[in-house]
Amino acid sequence: MQLKKEFIERLQKAKKIVFFTGAGISAESGISTFRGVDGIWNKMKPEELANFDAFMRNPDLVWEWYQHRREIVHNCQPNPGHNAIAALEQYYDVTVVTQNIDNLHRRAGSTKIFELHGNIERNFCVNCHTFYNSPDLEITYTAPKCKKCGGLVRPDVVWFGEMLPQDQYSGGEKTAAWSDICFVVGTSAVVFPAAYIPMQAKHNGSYVVEINIEPTELSRSADYSIFGKSGEILPQLLEEIKKIKEQQL
Ligand code: OAD
Ligand code: ZN
Repeated sequence: MQLKKEFIERLQKAKKIVFFTGAGISAESGISTFRGVDGIWNKMKPEELANFDAFMRNPDLVWEWYQHRREIVHNCQPNPGHNAIAALEQYYDVTVVTQNIDNLHRRAGSTKIFELHGNIERNFCVNCHTFYNSPDLEITYTAPKCKKCGGLVRPDVVWFGEMLPQDQYSGGEKTAAWSDICFVVGTSAVVFPAAYIPMQAKHNGSYVVEINIEPTELSRSADYSIFGKSGEILPQLLEEIKKIKEQQL
């Protein structure tokens, strides 16, 4: 893999690196993206399922859809892209800031993760806010009730019209702003406020490297764009970094 000289120099000096990821990184694990021809948002109207009012109106329908998504995600495995990011912890202080709810970065072994849009494997009671990990709940296709107060249990994912979890957003934003290199992988970078994070990183002097199968909203402001599948590019990048680090010894 031929890398730009300026990027190699950044890789030599960098200590803190951030991966800002979106649905594209999980595409090769078999999970559909949101936009594009096969995108989830082409098949369902988000306002019918992915919002709080829809859940309160018809909790069982919304729960059933998420249970279906949960099963898809659970049966998928992290791909070489997720694995390469986890392996890079040998060489750098790596933080993942993800818009994905699929838990695949954690399953791949990444240790520092900010989840901007929640996690489908976690749930909470809308009444008393008790958290339930999915394995602790019986598998049901109707919305479960809280064991403490009987309230409705919902998936811990950010729905339309909802705020992002403040600690996750501000943690992700700060880490990206302080990073030496910010990789932006598999995201259309059109959903805000999440998409402010790589912009902020760039503004603060981080070197922004985009990895995507096609140009995005961010391409113009990225310092370097690598076009291709993240499951192929990231393992190659890991190999290049290994060589750079060996030369530095
Ligand atoms: P999108 O579906 O908007 O974008 C996926 C991106 O991944 C596109 O830019 C694709 O070109 C790229 N892509 C697809 N396959 C790829 C591959 N194998 N390797 C690299 N890139 C690939 O998904 P997101 O940007 O994640 O929010 O969407 C952001 C948010 O919109 C989601 O978190 C979700 C949605 O509404 C919530 O649910 C709150
Ligand atoms: Zn409760």
